[in-house]
Amino acid sequence: MPLFDVYPLYDVEPTKARGVYVYDKNGKKYLDLYGGHAVISIGHGHRTYKRALRKQLNRIGFYSNAVQNPLQEKLSSEINRQSGCKDYELFMCSSGAEANENALKLASFHTGKSRVIAFDNAFHGRTSAAVAATDNKMIQAPLNDQHKVDFIPFNDVEALDKELSKGDVCAVIFEAIQGVGGLDEPTNAFVTAMEQMCKKHNTCLIADEVQSGFGRSGDFFAFQNYSITPHIITMAKGMGNGFPVGGILVNPVIESSYGMLGTTFGGNHLACRAALAVLEVLEKENLYENAKKLGAYFTEKAKELPFVTKSKGRGLMLGLEFENEVGPLRKELIFSHQIFTGGSSNKKLIRILPPLNVQKKHFDNLFNALLECHK
Ligand SMILES: Cc1ncc(COP(=O)(O)O)c(C=O)c1O
Repeated sequence: MPLFDVYPLYDVEPTKARGVYVYDKNGKKYLDLYGGHAVISIGHGHRTYKRALRKQLNRIGFYSNAVQNPLQEKLSSEINRQSGCKDYELFMCSSGAEANENALKLASFHTGKSRVIAFDNAFHGRTSAAVAATDNKMIQAPLNDQHKVDFIPFNDVEALDKELSKGDVCAVIFEAIQGVGGLDEPTNAFVTAMEQMCKKHNTCLIADEVQSGFGRSGDFFAFQNYSITPHIITMAKGMGNGFPVGGILVNPVIESSYGMLGTTFGGNHLACRAALAVLEVLEKENLYENAKKLGAYFTEKAKELPFVTKSKGRGLMLGLEFENEVGPLRKELIFSHQIFTGGSSNKKLIRILPPLNVQKKHFDNLFNALLECHK
């Protein structure tokens, strides 16, 4: 039976991965500056992570949300402690789209309203409301038209004020650093105004930290670069270092009630253990600091590359913009230099999303390879 053909695939078959490297079936070694799309946070095959999952699997791997699971509480306290986002409550799910879907639904429950404001170039996932809030007509089906979503540009206070003043908006959803969209960030003044306007108009502010959260930006969450308190924070990707786990942090102004949200797989024992192991390593190995330091190193070094028109992002959520489309360059990096990088909806941008324990020598490899490619 053939696979449903939705992915254009590179002809590489990884069979092993360690740290910042993946190895193909012939033993060829590749530098992973893509992290399987910002998923690998503490590095491939980390000992602490493997041991934690193995031990948990020997005890109990899964049971449903109908019974006590203290690992969820343990995870909730640990996220609160490490992120500094006190006073939030945790609901767990299994992916980024699901996290955003739940966040949007919760905002609608809480406010009794249904229109959503999202931003130009936003990406929030592929489920019903999440894809409707994603600025890409190509991945929206007619079914998704049922949602009322309007897109405005970042930093347009007037446009946001105009929309929120209509009084029917349940949520404004934003990425503090846009991922798929190409690493644009809103200004401090805009984000501050956005928080105030949301409060004034009884609209929930949702920070989509699916890609930028769990240390990738150098802070626990990328929105912490601003002084705001979102109503809901969504998480996934780096949270599980490859284990499918996601979640939302909900400000207690939003009251819970039985049945409001639910899931079969979300918050299972293995998922909690994976996220707890990630948090343990992030703290022990000080990967927040490493993300900041290496991000700054990357940005400095990028200035030396004459063919790079712009370097973008912060922490280890980085991008390099070129004069031409980067498809052929990314292929050359994989097949001639064994380096994985990411793309974005900006076809001239390469995205760099490595494991958070990447070192200077790995970035030097990339820069040398880029110089070779431009000879
Ligand atoms: C910012 C952001 N939100 C949501 C998602 C969707 O996450 P998932 O693919 O786990 O559903 C992504 C995926 O790339 C993302 O980058």
